[in-house]
Amino acid sequence: MELGIRDRVAMVAASSKGLGFGIARELAREGVRVSIGSRTESEVFEVADLLAEETGTEVLANVLDAADPDSITQWLDNTMAAFGNVDMLVVNAGGPPAGKFDDFADSDWQAAFELTLMSAVRMIRAVLPSMRENGRGSILTITSCSVKEPIDFLLLSNVMRSGVTSLAKSLSRQLAPENIRVNNLMPGRIDTDRVESLDSLHADAKGVPVEEVRAANELGIPLGRYGTIEEFGRFGAFLLSDAASYITGQTIAVDGGSVSTVW
Ligand SMILES: NC(=O)c1ccc[n+]([C@@H]2O[C@H](COP(=O)([O-])OP(=O)(O)OC[C@H]3O[C@@H](n4cnc5c(N)ncnc54)[C@H](OP(=O)(O)O)[C@@H]3O)[C@@H](O)[C@H]2O)c1
Repeated sequence: MELGIRDRVAMVAASSKGLGFGIARELAREGVRVSIGSRTESEVFEVADLLAEETGTEVLANVLDAADPDSITQWLDNTMAAFGNVDMLVVNAGGPPAGKFDDFADSDWQAAFELTLMSAVRMIRAVLPSMRENGRGSILTITSCSVKEPIDFLLLSNVMRSGVTSLAKSLSRQLAPENIRVNNLMPGRIDTDRVESLDSLHADAKGVPVEEVRAANELGIPLGRYGTIEEFGRFGAFLLSDAASYITGQTIAVDGGSVSTVW
């Protein structure tokens, strides 16, 4: 794809692997200068080097903990110092722990709120001044199909991601007059470490091999398989780019057809 975004600047959170990495790599392939961030220093620096080598674009590595407000501020400062402005933001973080209602105390709810919802608020707040100065911007939040069809054992995720989805819609209306678009992607089952570990949890709970759990999950996906991070990343990069210039306020599933509701 040639999306016409060469030399723009993108900040992609939680991007040393998985969904964030998928989007960061597609953006880098388009010639976007990408500022990636994750908690594990060695991994994020290694991935930045690999991406820069593969794509020939500038990739800035940052140690980022999405749950820590100071870390988000530092990420923005590093990006502004290296690239001078921000055109695109991908809001992403690790998922809150799995479990059902009786498993969680107030402290668990508070931690999930900080990790999932407040990280979105803080990341968006951080980039808005630069986007406003540029007179354009594009923000993509990543939530989950669970905001449409809650997943029983992912209660914290269901609730907090619904908040992020609502935030994206509300902000899209508020920011549209400033030429800043906000969209939200709902992954179904994209083949990442996170999904693999959730499948393993399930397999252990049921006492069956993980392959059996995966095969059963795939039966429920109309396209018959998990998605790849390339498939997720391509669509994310498209939505962030000017090729999607008339699309804002949308929550779109990348799920192989799994969600069974019309809207
Ligand atoms: N894959 C799916 O199909 C799917 C479906 C629905 C929802 N989701 C959600 O989408 C998000 C990404 O999932 P994924 O599948 O890409 O997971 P993943 O493959 O495990 O990758 C997670 C990435 O996020 C980073 N990360 C984790 N916690 C972080 C934090 N607090 N601050 C900054 N970076 C952090 C990780 O690096 P470090 O550990 O080094 O920080 C890693 O780079 C998760 O919230 C997940 O629950 C995924």
